Amino acid sequence: MKIIAYGARVDEIPYFRQWAKESSDTLEFHQELLDARTIEWAKGFDGINCFQTTPYSAAVFEKMGQYGIHFLALRNVGTDNVDFAAAKKAGVSISNTPAYSPTAIAEFSLTLTLQLLRRMPEVADKLLADDYNGATQFIGRELGQQTVGVIGAGRIGQAAIRMFNGFGAKVLAYDPYPNQKAHLPAEFVDLPDLIRQADVIDLHIPGIPANDHIIDEAAIAQMKPSTLIINTARGNLIDTAALVQALLEGRLAGAGIDTYERETEDLLALNETGHFSDPLWDELLSMRNVILTPHIAYYTQTAVHNMVYYSLQNLMDFLTTGTTDTEVSTK
Ligand code: NAD
Ligand code: COI
Repeated sequence: MKIIAYGARVDEIPYFRQWAKESSDTLEFHQELLDARTIEWAKGFDGINCFQTTPYSAAVFEKMGQYGIHFLALRNVGTDNVDFAAAKKAGVSISNTPAYSPTAIAEFSLTLTLQLLRRMPEVADKLLADDYNGATQFIGRELGQQTVGVIGAGRIGQAAIRMFNGFGAKVLAYDPYPNQKAHLPAEFVDLPDLIRQADVIDLHIPGIPANDHIIDEAAIAQMKPSTLIINTARGNLIDTAALVQALLEGRLAGAGIDTYERETEDLLALNETGHFSDPLWDELLSMRNVILTPHIAYYTQTAVHNMVYYSLQNLMDFLTTGTTDTEVSTK
């Protein structure tokens, strides 16, 4: 079989090389992302492996159809950037890699939470300003005394629930389809109850259109002013303008944002102009009770290894049997 991989990051390349060494199949990898131009390189290949947060567009799928390539195996979890209607029209089946390391993302949410509770950005800011005494003034909160509300109790949410519980926090959870067999150390409640009671709100739901702005001004208005919002899921879950306004007015205690609402547009502009320029991002960046990270919650050695190996296995399943356990057909 001939496989072409796109979006190969420097840290993934040793794993691609290792996989190719262990396999009798051909693997060609490129650092460039898959788009209407780079899809041309896939001509003559049997399947595509890919990882990016920018869109998988109709133009890409049309070309895949023309080249007779029926399988696209994603190395990541989220599929919100896939034009599924165009894929279906072109006869392309898609798989994701749903469990490359749920704990990587859950640990990152926990990290953001602890840093904000102990007010680390404020401390660091004073130290950088050579104000040692000023840096001693930020009294923290202990996670074990907080109520944490986890929205979405899937693979990552379950790992997060267990971690927060391990720190002694009271954990509330909301998920319309909870996994009864998981025996989670959390009290399942309705979303409004979670939003009203939680000191920390931690999001682990997909960025599907139905979840767009699940955290909007109305939801924020129900939160306690001591609430922290943590988002390592997808940017569209939060109305960022409403979040910024609430933070400016002191109606929220802080936020940890790994997935930013305008990430895709800003990234596309960054690729074109070299600038990640965005007024709301800049506003958040200037706040000492906010931590922004560039969509790196997944980024651990374990996760990167598994993303490469699991996704290539999914693609081989597709190519040899026509299907794979991780095939995704809907948004
Ligand atoms: P999952 O499919 O295992 O779990 C998602 C859960 O959310 C499901 O149980 C579902 O019932 C629930 N859900 C959906 N809509 C909901 C709603 N409105 N309210 C409450 N619950 C809802 O997915 P997962 O593996 O846990 O991943 C969750 C998300 O994390 C992914 O969709 C992806 O967007 C994001 N993610 C981010 C990173 C990162 O690096 N920041 C990495 C991996 C995944
Ligand atoms: C995912 O796996 O869904 C992620 O968010 C990680 C990656 C796209 C950066």
